[in-house]
Parts: sequence; structure tokens; C-alpha cells
Amino acid sequence: MDLKSGPGDFDPTQPKRATLEEIEGVLFPNTLREHWGTIQGFKARPDDLLICTYPKAGTTWIQQIVSMVQHRGDLEKCNQKPIYERMPFIDMPPMKPFVSGVEQADLMPSPRILKSHLPVQLLPASFWEQKCKVIYVARNAKDNVVSYFYFHHMSKIMPETGTWNEFLENFVAGKVAWGSWSDHVRGWWEAKDRHPVLYLFYEDMKEDPAREIRKVIQFMGLELPESVLNQIVEHTKFESMKANPMANYSTLPSSLVDHTVSPFMRKGTVGNWKKHFTVAQSEWLDDTCAQLLKGSGLNFRTEI
Ligand code: A3P
Repeated sequence: MDLKSGPGDFDPTQPKRATLEEIEGVLFPNTLREHWGTIQGFKARPDDLLICTYPKAGTTWIQQIVSMVQHRGDLEKCNQKPIYERMPFIDMPPMKPFVSGVEQADLMPSPRILKSHLPVQLLPASFWEQKCKVIYVARNAKDNVVSYFYFHHMSKIMPETGTWNEFLENFVAGKVAWGSWSDHVRGWWEAKDRHPVLYLFYEDMKEDPAREIRKVIQFMGLELPESVLNQIVEHTKFESMKANPMANYSTLPSSLVDHTVSPFMRKGTVGNWKKHFTVAQSEWLDDTCAQLLKGSGLNFRTEI
């Protein structure tokens, strides 16, 4: 495997942090620019299931749940490959030794489960044309931003993080990769009235995983016995996934992610934000979110 040279100027032995670049009004890592036309031209198939989230909202968790549902609770089948090989991330540009998410998906037999962080207005048109099912997971802004902050530290290719205060301000202003959290959660919330979108909340999944997994099973058009449901709950809980190399991203090269800085499976809770926010920051974010989500009918819980 040639790790010395990658597509574009990406060299995984000396990873470079991305910069932010605006594409169609939303900020993304600049590495997506060259690949944008390919992403937009993505050919969805009618039986594709798309998992979509704002980054750090619980993507990997819902991926593992969907994978377990797809394999009827058989962990061994799920564990044949790391999660990122089971479900192509269609936003991802080629990064040697990995081909792009689009290329990976194109080579995959149906039925495919795909992952994206794209805001609703930038989803490739073929997903709508093919009427693909989408599972969306949203997470409260406070825990979401803390998780994103730590991820910027442990990933060696995300843009520079800045201080906590700077990062928080940038997050609220949508000046982070994949843009505005509030536009994202709101846009997809509105889309669920027009398209087959199952909209889940991280906090609900934490509160009662079995209840939320039942929704996933039903949405995927399946019926599974309680014993299988219990298996799925067990193998998708935080501690199980943290210990599972096929779900915890420990199989990625350490040149891309450094789990010694902060593990990918970091805390997995609702309310960890309390250890990071000052009272003033908390009140400011509450007010700002109330403004940004006004009239949407969207409500987030920051504790359970
Ligand atoms: P924290 O950083 O708050 O711990 P994503 O997969 O979208 O990148 O999201 C990662 C976040 O989801 C991390 O949050 C991670 O710990 C959390 N997570 C992953 N698996 C989980 C699980 N099974 N239960 C609860 N949280 C989980």
C-alpha cells in the first residue's frame, strides 16, 4: 500500500489540517472542493438507506444500530468489517489508502447503508428522486459542540480548533465544517414532512434505547423478536461499542485520528456540556438556540 502519496496533495504520513471553504453557502473542509461534483452526481438506488447527521450527533451509534438490525442482531456478521467499510461516507474525498465514499458506494452491492453529514439542501438530488429512506439523528447543541470540539483535537485532518470560547462562537455562527448546527437540524426536521425521514434524537436514544431501536426496525420494514431487540440494545450501548474495534474507529491509521488525545468513544452521555460551559455561555446558547429554532416546533433536551 503506497502511503507516501495520496490524491490531491494529501499525504497520510504527514496529515495536514484542512481549512474551511464555502461551497454553496455552507462551510466544509477544503478537501471536499475538488470532489464536490462527484458527490452531487452521486447515484442513489431506491433501496439505499441513508444515515444523516450533523457531525458528532451520534452517527456511529445509529450506524451500529442499523447494522445490527440489518444483520438481525448477529454481531459476528457486523464485525466482519469496521463500520466505515460497511457504510460508505459519501461526503468523504479520496484519501489514500481509502477511495472516496462515492467510489466505495458505487462498488457496493445493494442494499446499501450510506452515511452523510450534508445539510438537507445539499443532499444529492438522486436521493430524493429515488425516494430513499433516511434516518436522521439530532443532538442538543451543547453536547454536540463539546463533542465536536474534542473531535477537532483528536482528528489530525479537521480544521484548527482554536480555544473553547472561539470554537463555541464559530459553532453557533456556522463557521465550522458542515456549517450551521441549527440550519442542519431544522432543515432535516422540515424535510421529514415531505420525505421518508425517521427523525431521532440522541437524548431519546439514551433515555430508552429499546424504544428508539423499535422505531428503526419498523422504519426498515422489519419485524424482530424481543430477544433480538435485546441483543441489539446490548451490543450498541456505549460500553460495548467503546470496546469493539469494528465500531470504535481504533482501526483507522493513527496518522488520521489520535485516540490518546481524546478517544472517539469519549463520554457518550447527555449533559457532559456542564463540565465545559460557563453559566454565561450556557445562557447565551440557550437564548441563541431559542431564536434560531423559533417556530420550528423542534425541542431539545440538554439533560435527561
Ligand atoms: P461524546 O464525544 O459526547 O462522547 P459521531 O458518531 O456522530 O461522530 O458522534 C460521536 C459521539 O457519539 C461521541 O460523543 C460518542 O461518544 C457518542 N457515541 C458513540 N456511540 C455511542 C453509544 N453507543 N451511546 C452513546 N453515545 C455514543
